[in-house]
Amino acid sequence: MCGIVGYTGPRQAYPIVLKGLKRLEYRGYDSSGVALLHNGKLNVYKKKGKVAELEEYVIGKDLDSGIGIGHTRWATHGEPSDRNAHPHTSSNGRFAMIHNGIIENYAQLKTELQKKGYQFTSDTDTEVLLNFVEDIQNNNNCTLEEALRIALKRVSGAYCILIIDSNDPETIIAARKGSPLVIGIGKGEHFLASDASPIIEYTKEVVYVNDYELAIVKPDELILKNLGNEKVTPYITKLDMELAAIEKGGYDHFMLKEIFEQPSTIYDCLRGRLDADAGTITMGGIDQHISQLINANRIMIIACGTSWHAGLVAEYIIEELCRIPVEVEYASEFRYRNPIVNKGDVIIAISQSGETADTLVALEKAKENGAFIFGVVNAVGSSISRISHAGAYTHAGPEIGVASTKAFTGQLAVLMLMALKMAFVKETISKERYKQLLIELQDVPEKVDAILKNSESIKTIAEAYKNATDFLFLGRGYNFPIALEGALKLKEISYIHAEGYPAAEMKHGPIALVDEKLPVVFIATKDSYHEKIVSNMQEIKARKGKIISIITEGDVISPTLSNHVFSIPPADEVIAPILSVVPLQLLSYYVGVSKGIDVDKPRNLAKSVTVE
Ligand code: F6R
Repeated sequence: MCGIVGYTGPRQAYPIVLKGLKRLEYRGYDSSGVALLHNGKLNVYKKKGKVAELEEYVIGKDLDSGIGIGHTRWATHGEPSDRNAHPHTSSNGRFAMIHNGIIENYAQLKTELQKKGYQFTSDTDTEVLLNFVEDIQNNNNCTLEEALRIALKRVSGAYCILIIDSNDPETIIAARKGSPLVIGIGKGEHFLASDASPIIEYTKEVVYVNDYELAIVKPDELILKNLGNEKVTPYITKLDMELAAIEKGGYDHFMLKEIFEQPSTIYDCLRGRLDADAGTITMGGIDQHISQLINANRIMIIACGTSWHAGLVAEYIIEELCRIPVEVEYASEFRYRNPIVNKGDVIIAISQSGETADTLVALEKAKENGAFIFGVVNAVGSSISRISHAGAYTHAGPEIGVASTKAFTGQLAVLMLMALKMAFVKETISKERYKQLLIELQDVPEKVDAILKNSESIKTIAEAYKNATDFLFLGRGYNFPIALEGALKLKEISYIHAEGYPAAEMKHGPIALVDEKLPVVFIATKDSYHEKIVSNMQEIKARKGKIISIITEGDVISPTLSNHVFSIPPADEVIAPILSVVPLQLLSYYVGVSKGIDVDKPRNLAKSVTVE
């Protein structure tokens, strides 16, 4: 949450910072701002609303500067407004700061500062932290770097901060704990950002800053230190990402582009890992730890949101194929309760961003208790991938649309590979079924492509129901988590209230909602539950609900009960969820677009949830 960008070097900073903010807008978009330094004067411009509004606001203003920091905000402390937008300036006007994260003890620090006469112009924790730094710097007559180091020792919470000093026209001081920071190394220039997307077009050499590290960044020098003032050698990594991956490429929205990328992202995820002809699955992270995985007393899957839904699908598959007990936990619940985690437990952490604060802290807690952590992560080099003992990347590429689509199918592909490999080694699956499932998995990209070719018919369904006020999504077995995912996608992107339910559970309550106005989406592909879900359709039809069914090609019964059907290619029930979710992604997309919603940046959301 919140995107931060910085630049120091020979070029004009403003265009670089602004472009970077546009790339990071998916992280938060309720206000934005920049701080630039010209002839010793700090020019701070900030505006409520999207980055485009800031861009308009600064027209005609002094933007001349070779150093700059910029921020796009997802509000935590204080409503979205010009006043609460970042950057914030210190009381004496000397420093400007941007911040991603939450300073938990800000209230106590604020009271201390108020007693000393400090006044605040915003409601933010950031302004408190900055004035705390200023106060330390004044009292100790020390450098900004020193003052920041002292301040951070008293701060609890999460942060990635960048500060510039009007007395130092070249240096950005940065620090991180719990919120990401990447530094791009150019020729006589440096770029700083929350992720690599603002950096990629200038350099591929980057340093991922670690927690409790401070960076002193000048055009031709990067010094990393820990909070004990000891130098740390920067570890330079080469980015494996192309600029095209973070641009819309002719699509109206990133979300649509990402939905349509799925045949190739799933293919990329399987490539080099799955060889159906040879009957092999090769994944370094799994192969090296296979005995730990198959001998787990229990597997706990920890995730949030859409990634949690991928975890639920994995629970069904791993229990069925590997006969290992699986529990799926919301990271935010796990971290605050007193869960039983023992040595011999395996934790699978699922995360697109690899930065979700709740998941990260939950993993740290499980790790302390001796659990083995396996990360299923999309963002390469992210915090969760780094704290995991082992893992597998989903290789879906950068996901910019706030609603997760291709990352979800990438997660399912990795989890299916993982379950199959474990079942094969554990010998809990027959050779024939193993081989059949490998072939089916290999065919998934082609089948997703076939579904996407039919997207127009989903558009028609979306148009018919765009004015509905509620939706119900029902599924059974492997498709139950897909019902949850379909409902979540619709809520996020169209602001229509939607609930996902196990189809059989409906009669224990939600059926009271059914009337002739309620659209009910059945995920009713041909599987071992099919007859049962057809009975559930009858129950809805008898109550005049409007039925939209996702069915398997060739099903002749479901269409007789449905107002609308969308057919997907046949697939084994274990594989079906990776296909049946695609029409639901399209449905939410088209409903959102037809309601005029900015589907890439729906209200109140942010892509990377780095606050609790
Ligand atoms: C929904 C969505 C969120 C994320 C959740 C976890 O479309 O994107 O529910 O799935 O915030 O994020 P990651 O996977 O980055 O940990």
